[in-house]
Amino acid sequence: MKSDRRAPGIDTLAIREGIPRTAYLEHNEPLFLTSSFVFENAAQAAARFAGDEPGFIYSRAGNPTVTAFQNRLAALEGAQACVATASGMSAIMATVMSLTRAGDHIVVAHELFGATTQLFGILSRFGLEVTQVRLDDTEAWKAAVRPNTRLFYLETPSNPLTQLADVRAIAHIARERGVRLAVDNCFCSPALQRPLELGADIVVHSATKYIDGQGRVLGGAVLGDSKYIEETLAPFVRTTGPTLSAFNAWVLLKGMETLSMRMERQSANALALATWLESQPGVMQVYYPGLPSHPQHELAMTQQRSGGAIVSFEVGRADEDRYSEALRLKAWQLIDACEVMSITANLGDVKTTITHPASTTHGRVGPEARRAAGVGEGLIRIAVGAEDLADLTDDLEHALRAIAR
Ligand SMILES: Cc1ncc(COP(=O)(O)O)c(C=O)c1O
Repeated sequence: MKSDRRAPGIDTLAIREGIPRTAYLEHNEPLFLTSSFVFENAAQAAARFAGDEPGFIYSRAGNPTVTAFQNRLAALEGAQACVATASGMSAIMATVMSLTRAGDHIVVAHELFGATTQLFGILSRFGLEVTQVRLDDTEAWKAAVRPNTRLFYLETPSNPLTQLADVRAIAHIARERGVRLAVDNCFCSPALQRPLELGADIVVHSATKYIDGQGRVLGGAVLGDSKYIEETLAPFVRTTGPTLSAFNAWVLLKGMETLSMRMERQSANALALATWLESQPGVMQVYYPGLPSHPQHELAMTQQRSGGAIVSFEVGRADEDRYSEALRLKAWQLIDACEVMSITANLGDVKTTITHPASTTHGRVGPEARRAAGVGEGLIRIAVGAEDLADLTDDLEHALRAIAR
């Protein structure tokens, strides 16, 4: 853009930021489906490998379509740099492993996506010390810091209970103690929340979710300052190999073009559905940061543009045991009675998805970790899509009637 023009807004960046056109002047982003790149001669190959000449070498280390995806996502998050990865999990693994070594300590939230908690269990086998603290207990983050603490890791809102971390306050604690803060921004996407602006050092994404938005491909990304991303993270990813494929990067680039519209529509559907659910008999509790009844509603409104598109709720009565087999069966019955919503573990799709976290996303972490994370047997997570709101409400109305019988 010319210098006398205004800085482009987030929606313009989501559609236009990327790479320059090739010699063919194609309008759409080109897909460079190639494993390697050709050199003019042996001397050029040597110069590229030595880093003396810029240019692509091999797609594990870099590919123009992947670069376009990285540039666009960096623009949306307000980050200096980005490295894309094959999945959200590999983005988290690369972040933690690139910053730590055996004997280091990290502080992580109790309330995390199940596989993320399991990943920290795997990394602790290699000598990483891990302390879990409550996401919303800011003082606990401060108290957990040791001289060998390198990283704070959290997601906000959390999966599946939509609890929030006060990112500004936790970032302040981290900065004062020389610890880095990494935030998984999967649930909000940069359309709703920009953790770097709130003080975080690193943003992690499962691009599989809202960035794709149409349930097609897996992808991930890590964003932060150029020094960390280019000097520490990129060599780690290049060498260990969890690189994003060019094809998936191309699909994700197209997904980003509609990110903001989808988030707006899906968040509006979610707020309406959550408000409706709160008034339904047979619903014990609704978890949605956009509802005034959410304990961190005010915080949500200061760090997110809306409540997001994930609504969780618990079936049953207030006096029932939240961890009983009976509630699991009731939740399964409700899910099975839905006809519009898809029973699938993904989220972030324009198609609404419905899941029972205790037996799926949080099934492998075991009952104790589920209790620690507050994931009850009657809990149901809905990743609200962009269908007609009336059809979604009707689907749930029928399903709630089925379990009331
Ligand atoms: C919050 C969060 N982070 C990370 C992941 C992992 O992402 P991926 O499935 O792309 O590896 C998920 C997946 O559901 C998630 O919900």
